[in-house]
Amino acid sequence: MTISIDQKNDLEMVITSENPPTFNLATYLKTQQAAVEAALEGAIAVVYPEKIYEAMRYSLLAGGKRLRPILCLATCELMGGSSIMAMPTACSLEMIHTMSLIHDDLPAMDNDDYRRGKLTNHKVYGEDIAILAGDGLLAYAFEFIAAQTQGVAADKVLKVIAHLGRAVGAAGLVGGQVVDLESEGNPDVTLETLTYIHRHKTGALLESSVVCGAILAGASDTDLARLSRYSQNIGLAFQIIDDVLDITATQEELGKTAGKDLQAQKATYPSFWGIEESKRQADQLITEAKAELAPFGAAADPLIALADYITARKN
Ligand code: IPE
Ligand code: IPE
Ligand code: MG
Ligand code: MG
Ligand code: MG
Repeated sequence: MTISIDQKNDLEMVITSENPPTFNLATYLKTQQAAVEAALEGAIAVVYPEKIYEAMRYSLLAGGKRLRPILCLATCELMGGSSIMAMPTACSLEMIHTMSLIHDDLPAMDNDDYRRGKLTNHKVYGEDIAILAGDGLLAYAFEFIAAQTQGVAADKVLKVIAHLGRAVGAAGLVGGQVVDLESEGNPDVTLETLTYIHRHKTGALLESSVVCGAILAGASDTDLARLSRYSQNIGLAFQIIDDVLDITATQEELGKTAGKDLQAQKATYPSFWGIEESKRQADQLITEAKAELAPFGAAADPLIALADYITARKN
């Protein structure tokens, strides 16, 4: 069929008038957060010995941005999968993240009294139970993926479990936390060490959130590599902004004590570069992250908006 000039203009008008409104991140976050909350709520029942399940639920259901699960769901959908396929992994990411927060707040680590606007786990349940609540969440996260994932071939589920195990272990989050603690009080920490800390203690799990969503959907190696670069960049930017907010935001905004990094003489981006340059570097990382998504077109709008949210957020 040939289209006359007039018809073509009419078609263009229709296409333009039917263009969807620009992506609304606030609505998207609200919907996805509600879905994740509902899934987490149903994930852990309280049975004997009740105290440990209550401690696990106390921190897991205390709110939080739910960024890691939302990244996982968004990436799985971008790569042609469904949120049903990714929800068990999404919940597991939040269980692992919550474990890392409970342990990070312990007196032996950052010694914090508030988290997600509430007293920290050890302040309510004691250090012994807080350690075990973290252990319980970590173990259950892997059980949950293996037992609950549906509609995904077993080899892909196995890949997800391996990727996540590496992200949270000594090669990832745990390694980053070790160097973070070792570097406390050392004014001569190099940029290389600082970047190692941030890429591992925070970047590794954020990267895994994106990559695992893509693996579940059966993404190609090329797309996996692209999404890995996207998520490594947002992961580093996320911790840079966490460091900035520790200085610029209030306890009420953060739901955790502000100004702790300076007090504990932590190695942070602002301590190395200052606040403005740290923000500039985070912006640059977000720009690079978004550039990786160009080949996906408008389908990547959620991941683009989530990248922008990392530097725009107030908590
Ligand atoms: C805080 O993570 C710990 C870091 C890795 C910086 P989030 O800022 O994602 O905390 P929640 O989940 O929203 O509470
Ligand atoms: C936390 O880094 C990283 C992990 C929990 C793995 P921070 O120690 O800076 O996190 P906050 O500021 O206590 O949330
Ligand atoms: Mg810490
Ligand atoms: Mg901390
Ligand atoms: Mg911090």
